Amino acid sequence: MLTMASSSNHQQLFFLLLALLLPIAINGADFIFQKCGENFTANAILPGNINSVLLDLVGKTSTHGFATSSYGTGADTIYGISECSEGATAQACSACLSDSALKAHTSCPNSADMSIWQHSCYLRYSKKNFMGQPNSTKIGAWYSIHKPVDQQAYTRAVEELLGVVGSAASWGENRKFGWGVMDSPNFKGSVGKLFAMVQCTWDLDQDACTKCLADARQIRRDSCGDRLGCYVITESCALRIEISAFLLFNPAHDPATPARSITLGSL
Ligand SMILES: *[C@@H]1O[C@H](CO)[C@@H](O)[C@H](O)[C@H]1NC(C)=O
Ligand SMILES: *[C@@H]1O[C@H](CO)[C@@H](O)[C@H](O)[C@H]1NC(C)=O
Repeated sequence: MLTMASSSNHQQLFFLLLALLLPIAINGADFIFQKCGENFTANAILPGNINSVLLDLVGKTSTHGFATSSYGTGADTIYGISECSEGATAQACSACLSDSALKAHTSCPNSADMSIWQHSCYLRYSKKNFMGQPNSTKIGAWYSIHKPVDQQAYTRAVEELLGVVGSAASWGENRKFGWGVMDSPNFKGSVGKLFAMVQCTWDLDQDACTKCLADARQIRRDSCGDRLGCYVITESCALRIEISAFLLFNPAHDPATPARSITLGSL
């Protein structure tokens, strides 16, 4: 349908179809980061191909929580991938992807290479067929202002937790998502909790995911240093570590388990 449209009504059609796919209010509050790649110039075909991929991903993703799409031929082919976060409801998933498609459309109108990370979903498209190819180029790193009192003990706990959570994520069959909660030395001398999440885009295999996460862990060391919280996003994977809960679901944790026990989960 979109290929039939002239470029002058591409825009209107895109917004109309998006509105039909999602008749509910969009909450853009969970935005994290968006990257617009190189702009293309004077291309009559790419905008329609991008719109087709975006609409396809918005329509397909909530069924399984992840999807791929491609549209076009030859050098004008656009490849796309999307995924919703663990714990996001189907409705939150759709709302997040619609919002991402809208942001792609409005913030990166002339870019054939776009990534957007939100708390509830992830969406990327490119002219390059990036499926299965890990790219651990940093696209962002954020950290909290606070530092632990016992730096060495904290770092040991972080490395241990990220190691096991990373393995859990990379073994995942469909989704490459892992989380964990661990008792760790607190920052006032007592025992506290450490929460971690790692994720590879679901097109990666185990080795590619493992490699991306190793790079993300190095980015954490370099960019977040001795801070308590850290959130690293690369093209193909992400990790986050905090001393308070941040996941969209409540990881079960038995308060009676001894110190240094690890509760793990993966998809
Ligand atoms: C693409 O073009 C927009 C203006 O439409 C500009 O703001 C942006 O910086 C450009 N991006 C790149 C990567 O060149
Ligand atoms: C990885 O992504 C960066 C942009 O984030 C890009 O410049 C680079 O070419 C990519 N590398 C590969 C191998 O695709």
